[in-house]
Amino acid sequence: MELNTYLVLVILILLAISSFINYDLSTANDGFYPLPRFLTSYFRPNKVLKEHYNGTLPGFIITGVMKCGTGAVSKFLSQHSRVYDIGETYFFNRYYEKGYSYYDALLTRRSAGKHKIVFEKTPTYYKTLPTAERIHAMSPDTKIILIVCDNVQRTLSRYLHILHLSPNSLQRQQKEHKIDDLGKDFEEFQQRLNATIDDLNIEFKGMLANRFGNFYRFVEDLYDLYNQRKYPFSTKDSTLRELILTDGLYSVYHMTYLKFFSPEKVLVVDGSTMKDSPWTELERIQNFLDVPVELSENSFKWSEERGLYCLNKDGVPNCLGKGKGRSNGWEFEPYLQKKLMKFFKPFDQHFANLLKKRFSWQDKNDEE
Ligand SMILES: *[C@@H]1O[C@H](CO)[C@@H](O)[C@H](O)[C@H]1NC(C)=O
Ligand SMILES: *[C@@H]1O[C@H](CO)[C@@H](O)[C@H](O)[C@H]1NC(C)=O
Repeated sequence: MELNTYLVLVILILLAISSFINYDLSTANDGFYPLPRFLTSYFRPNKVLKEHYNGTLPGFIITGVMKCGTGAVSKFLSQHSRVYDIGETYFFNRYYEKGYSYYDALLTRRSAGKHKIVFEKTPTYYKTLPTAERIHAMSPDTKIILIVCDNVQRTLSRYLHILHLSPNSLQRQQKEHKIDDLGKDFEEFQQRLNATIDDLNIEFKGMLANRFGNFYRFVEDLYDLYNQRKYPFSTKDSTLRELILTDGLYSVYHMTYLKFFSPEKVLVVDGSTMKDSPWTELERIQNFLDVPVELSENSFKWSEERGLYCLNKDGVPNCLGKGKGRSNGWEFEPYLQKKLMKFFKPFDQHFANLLKKRFSWQDKNDEE
């Protein structure tokens, strides 16, 4: 064989081994990442750049819980004449070691309008630990938009998302790992989820008892576990099912952001309202960003076919990619639906109290 052929073989083998060894659920983000994990792990120590950032600043950053509509919010906002969307960068959690000059190049290279507010969107920022601290180190004035939604719906959408991951080369093993964890079909997924909620409930009951039933203290304890990357937030000791559930403990992640940002710098968007009347949340967002309200009810058009609001393009709905709004027609069994609601209810309440806000899905779930 030629030397080149050997090289290619060796690289392929290394790639295969690395994706086995370094399989990491938390940062995997159900998606594609361009570097094999064994490489990125070298570049991911928990450090914060001390140098002063003098490059182009993103005016705001969108983050949010997977399957809550971060894509929709970015796409809608990118229609605004005063803002410019540079897409997903994963800078603060995956590529931080490349340094500020790398980030600056991304922001400037892709920004067309000099007078626009540049923004990026990276969903996993909300739950990867050093992110809030790093964004703050870059600029404490950065505005954060966090998108959350009904956890029951989110859990279902997340499952369907994984189910529909295209089995192409890099994703295939990830997908197989994930399906092994979730169950071979929807039926098995529901049974396993049923049992997983029981396990977490036992764990949480014990923790709550240690705090004499004080839910606030209990959430603080969860926050500590998260900060120490321990179960049930640890990607090593937790199953994907557990992580999908704990992704919905919004208070825990939000408290991390509040440690670095003042509350008026962080806007929490109700992803469920985004679905029902996107213009309501977009008005809040535009006010938060101090830009004129250009996106209003007229900017949207209901799509019968997709069962969701899309952009109004001359009276015709212009919708997001095919994978979006996938959960139409799927539902959890009623027993599991109830159980999930009950599981998340006190956490949603805690989060709502923290923000002095009420979420649309809380009312909906209370009626059930
Ligand atoms: C900041 O400015 C200095 C000097 O002008 C430059 O060398 C450095 O690369 C800049 N940093 C960034 C991130 O742009
Ligand atoms: C769900 O879990 C409960 C225990 O909490 C069990 O009694 C019930 O049979 C389970 N349901 C299904 C359909 O597996």
